[in-house]
Amino acid sequence: MKTATVLALISAASGAVIEQRQTPTAEFDVTNFSASCQPHSVLCFFGFNVATTTTPPSATSCGLAVQGPDFLPAVGLTGCEDPRFSWSFEPRDGGAHAVTVNWESTPGFNQTGSHLIQPADVVLENHGSVADERYVGPASFVISPLTSIP
Ligand SMILES: *[C@@H]1O[C@H](CO)[C@@H](O)[C@H](O)[C@H]1NC(C)=O
Ligand SMILES: *[C@@H]1O[C@H](CO)[C@@H](O)[C@H](O)[C@H]1NC(C)=O
Repeated sequence: MKTATVLALISAASGAVIEQRQTPTAEFDVTNFSASCQPHSVLCFFGFNVATTTTPPSATSCGLAVQGPDFLPAVGLTGCEDPRFSWSFEPRDGGAHAVTVNWESTPGFNQTGSHLIQPADVVLENHGSVADERYVGPASFVISPLTSIP
């Protein structure tokens, strides 16, 4: 009885893993990406749309107003409109930043990927007495490859 239950659990788990691996070409298509701190405000705004390339696709929009001021802050894992998606924004070496998107493709299983924003794509804009950081790179980019968690 106990053994049967364990075997059932193992086969259920490996079945789910195989399901993940059937979509190795899945990507996240990010559009309308913006990240900017506002002149004369303590707030910085992040926003973007994200869609999977699976059939059928899943898509949502993500955004956050967060306390700066002036410099784009790190953003920990934050939910999107569709709660199966979440994202983070983290500084990386040499002035780069990483945008990471997590998608719970099936309950308990995530696909995740990161996009590296080059240092040149975040500029410090001068507004007279204040300066504010702003993303000036492409508004659309693809996050690929994705890795499965677990
Ligand atoms: C991008 O943003 C613009 C202006 O906010 C909006 O009109 C457009 O529909 C958005 N595009 C997508 C793909 O959401
Ligand atoms: C999986 O994705 C969900 C929704 O995006 C997120 O809340 C959760 O923290 C993620 N789990 C892991 C281990 O990344």
